[in-house]
Parts: sequence; structure tokens; C-alpha cells
Amino acid sequence: MTEALYNPADGYYARPAGQVGRGGDFFTSVSVGPLFGRLLADHIAAWHAQAGSPGRWRIVEAGANDGSLALDILARLDELGCAGYEYVVAEPLPHLAAALQLRSGRIRVIGSTEDLLDDPQPGYVLGNEVLDALPFRVIESDGVAWHELGVGVEGDGFAWVDTGTAEAALVEGLPQRPAGYRTEVRDNYGSFMAEMRRGMSHGRMLWLDYGFDRADYYHESRTTGTLRTYSKHRAGEDPLVNPGEQDITAHVDFTAVAEAAAALGGEVLRYQRQGLFLTELARPWLLSLEGRMDVAKELRAFQMLTHPGQLGAKFQVMELGFGETAGRLS
Ligand SMILES: C[S@@+](CC[C@H](N)C(=O)[O-])C[C@H]1O[C@@H](n2cnc3c(N)ncnc32)[C@H](O)[C@@H]1O
Repeated sequence: MTEALYNPADGYYARPAGQVGRGGDFFTSVSVGPLFGRLLADHIAAWHAQAGSPGRWRIVEAGANDGSLALDILARLDELGCAGYEYVVAEPLPHLAAALQLRSGRIRVIGSTEDLLDDPQPGYVLGNEVLDALPFRVIESDGVAWHELGVGVEGDGFAWVDTGTAEAALVEGLPQRPAGYRTEVRDNYGSFMAEMRRGMSHGRMLWLDYGFDRADYYHESRTTGTLRTYSKHRAGEDPLVNPGEQDITAHVDFTAVAEAAAALGGEVLRYQRQGLFLTELARPWLLSLEGRMDVAKELRAFQMLTHPGQLGAKFQVMELGFGETAGRLS
């Protein structure tokens, strides 16, 4: 998965941007329009005020892709008169980093968060649909133990190979499942969040993604896991075909994210459906629309982001606090 998605020459995300959106392979909440970024900006601004309005602070976005969300957030923070912050995007792929830098001089693009280590500041880290893009491992039960599946060469293509019993640490806490039950597991939430926490004296992280808690993820009825591929808005289930030409993803185990955050000294401040989260945030905005006749497009975007039948129940929001004493946002 690492090679297929992130190889700097041939990986899926190494191609010129264009994977996300109507003309690409899949939609995200960002593709719906600027409302998503506007509401997230309101939330970030509320945190900044609640944290005592530090004079220098930082927003760090992971997986910013073409920078659309960054620009939507910056536009709203301008409207709110927010100041004193830098907007940083951590983008390891060089061509995406260059494209982002061209798109806006207001985004500081860095290859690695190591660059932030010598200047710690209060920070707000966020990422939409990033955790599901972190490489995962595929495991299958033989009825007694979990085996890890690797990828081998077969003829002109690739095939799954049983590499033997999975490392104990990888499958710790997973329930026993019948032979043939196949699923995914990630052991990299912690290392990823540790990278994103660099340069943060204290602050928060916000992860928006599709996923479940562990009991739901590894439910006995989910016998083939959540692995999906996306190409031209069509979902598939075979990641071994056309490597580099289709997206590969699996849902997020939010219990594992919470555990990884706790190991880094973080605490869960919020875990809820995107629909509920954004609806709470949108109250003042919705009131401001009253009496206006030209709002059909904006309301359609709101409905798309929040309705349980659309993105509202598909996506979860997990907010984590690191080294904060200020408590929760009400
Ligand atoms: C599904 S796309 C989401 C893009 C965008 N956030 C949106 O919502 O439209 C996943 C993104 O995560 C990025 N990504 C994956 N692993 C990453 C990592 N370790 N650090 C930074 N970005 C990463 C990918 O390059 C890709 O741009």
C-alpha cells in the first residue's frame, strides 16, 4: 500500500493532483464546497479564544492535497479577524508540495514536521480523510490465530500470500473470529500522530474520517473487512490490480486512535458523527441565512455534509487534547 499510493515516482498520490472531486476518483467533504472549511475555521477560532488567544500559534493540516480546505479555512479566519498564526501543511510528496506552494503564498509547506521542532507553539492539527489513507496490514483468521497476508508476485501480477502468524502486538485486543474472516489493522496511528504533534507546545488534533470503534470494526458480521479501492467514483475490493492507478483505503479503528493518542499523553475530547458536530457549529450561520432567498446552494451543501443519509453519519469526528488545562469546548 505504501508503494502503490506513495511511491514518489509511480504512487497514486504522486500523480498530478486531481484524484479528489467530480473529475477525479472520489469525493470528500472538502469537495462539497467552502462551507466545510468555514465551519472548521469557526471551531478552530473558538479553540484559540478558549486557549487564551495566544499571540503566536499554528494550524497544521495533514493530507492537504490541492490546498482547497486550507484556502477555505484561511478565508473564514480572515473574516473573523484571526491573527498571529501560521498555516502549515506537512506534505512529503515533492510535486504536491510545490503545487501547494504555488497555489497560495499564505500556506507554509514543509516536507516534514521536524522543521517545527525548534519553535514550539500552541497548535491545532487537523486532517480530513487522512487516517484512512495510512497504510494498513491485512490479516485473516484460521479460526484460532490471526495470520498476516503479504503481497507476492504471481505471473504478471500480484497475489495474496500467507506470511504466517501475525505478530502478537499487531493483533492484541482483537476478538477471535472464525476461519476465513479477513480484516485490516493499523499499527501506525501512534507514529503518525507523534509526527503531527511535533512543534505543538499544547493544543488539539481533529481527525475526520469514516470508521468505527473497535467492537463495531471487528464485528462478527463484517467478514471481509472494509478494504476498498476507488477509481473514477467506482468502489472496488482488489488492491492488487492496477497499482498506482486507484486509491486504496480502509476504515479507521477509532478505539486504536484513542489508545495511540493516550500513549502520547492525549485525551479524547470529542468523538461523534460529523453531522452532529457540524450542525452544532453551523447554528449561527444557519440563523444568519434567515430571510435570504438565494441560499439553496449553501443549504444543499449543509445537507450533504450533515444528513445521516449522506455524509453526516458516514464520517466520525475525533478531537484530541494535548497538554491542555482549559478543558472541553462546550
Ligand atoms: C483521501 S485524501 C484526502 C485529501 C483531502 N484532505 C480531502 O479531504 O479532500 C488522503 C490524503 O492524505 C495524504 N496522506 C497520507 N499519508 C500521509 C502522511 N503520512 N502525511 C501527510 N499526508 C498524508 C495523502 O497524500 C492524500 O493527500
